[in-house]
Amino acid sequence: MKGWVLYKESSELLRSESFELNRLRQVADQCGISLEAISPEQIDLVVTRDDRQSVLLDGQGVSLPDFLLPRMGASTTYFALAVIRHLERLGVQTFNSSQSIETVRDKLFTHQILAQSNLPVAKTMLAKFPVDIDAVEKHLGLPVVVKTISGSQGTGVFLCESRGHFEDLMQLVEATKSNVNIIIQEFVSTSHGRDLRVMVVGGKAVACMKRTSNDGSFKANYTRGGSVESHELTPEIEWLSAEASRLLGLDIAGIDLLFDGEHYKICEANSSPGFQGLESCHDINVPEHILSFICVRLGQLDRLPRVARVATDSSEKSLMTGDPGS
Ligand SMILES: Nc1ncnc2c1ncn2[C@@H]1O[C@H](COP(=O)(O)OP(=O)(O)O)[C@@H](O)[C@H]1O
Ligand SMILES: [Mg+2]
Repeated sequence: MKGWVLYKESSELLRSESFELNRLRQVADQCGISLEAISPEQIDLVVTRDDRQSVLLDGQGVSLPDFLLPRMGASTTYFALAVIRHLERLGVQTFNSSQSIETVRDKLFTHQILAQSNLPVAKTMLAKFPVDIDAVEKHLGLPVVVKTISGSQGTGVFLCESRGHFEDLMQLVEATKSNVNIIIQEFVSTSHGRDLRVMVVGGKAVACMKRTSNDGSFKANYTRGGSVESHELTPEIEWLSAEASRLLGLDIAGIDLLFDGEHYKICEANSSPGFQGLESCHDINVPEHILSFICVRLGQLDRLPRVARVATDSSEKSLMTGDPGS
């Protein structure tokens, strides 16, 4: 069984992915799965109706993998999306699909889909230049959070505490690039500097951690140096994150939840979530969950990693002992 991981092109971005790549490779090796890291730059597409030799890797025809694991998240380029779509057309199973990656790369579209199904999201507007400051203040109040439509690791997310600050930022954006797409969002103040990250694999929420910023910032991203601790997966958290992943079509997802008083608001969905923070505060093997799910979807049950087998063993044991809780 052979898989390709499609990773980020630039060496700087790749460095931030190296933990995940190494962990995935380590577990794949244990299951007899060959996992190769491929950059979109290595691929040439030949669109033809003739055969399956229409993907070239480093200029050579290559046998197609059984599955593709895109790991480029919000920085998935048009070219990378074209590669994923092409492989899908050739029958390669992709986790996640090109469609779901494209959906969640757009934070407004993500919110539109979730809100349509009544899931709780922060009130959000698409900026239109010149921005009507009064309308924004009327609908969202102040402070507001301003975000680029696509982004990750907290870059491109700003808090405007006052009307003056918001006005200045909007003028700067308009003067620099008036055709840029940005969203303006209500600030969920009870979540200042803290949020939850839930890992969802194959429709199942597998672990949750609380992230807290260490520098007074309102952004709690782990990659910004935030600290992490394990957090209980309550039924409400499970439902929200599993349902958000389902509605967005994601097989593998990192769902960010904001603390909204006693409840939560969905902040965003990530299609290639990092899992170094999660593994540092939980006794969890994330690649085992991911590869188990892929084995199930490819009908390769005999390759299931340990995590799936342990669950089977323990349910057998509880059946045999007649455990009333089973
Ligand atoms: N509307 C909001 N209210 C309060 N905090 C927010 C809001 N939106 C984002 N944040 C904080 O900023 C962080 C980054 O925002 P997010 O939309 O997840 O961007 P990124 O894709 O860069 O991670 C979140 O993890 C959260 O801590
Ligand atoms: Mg985020």
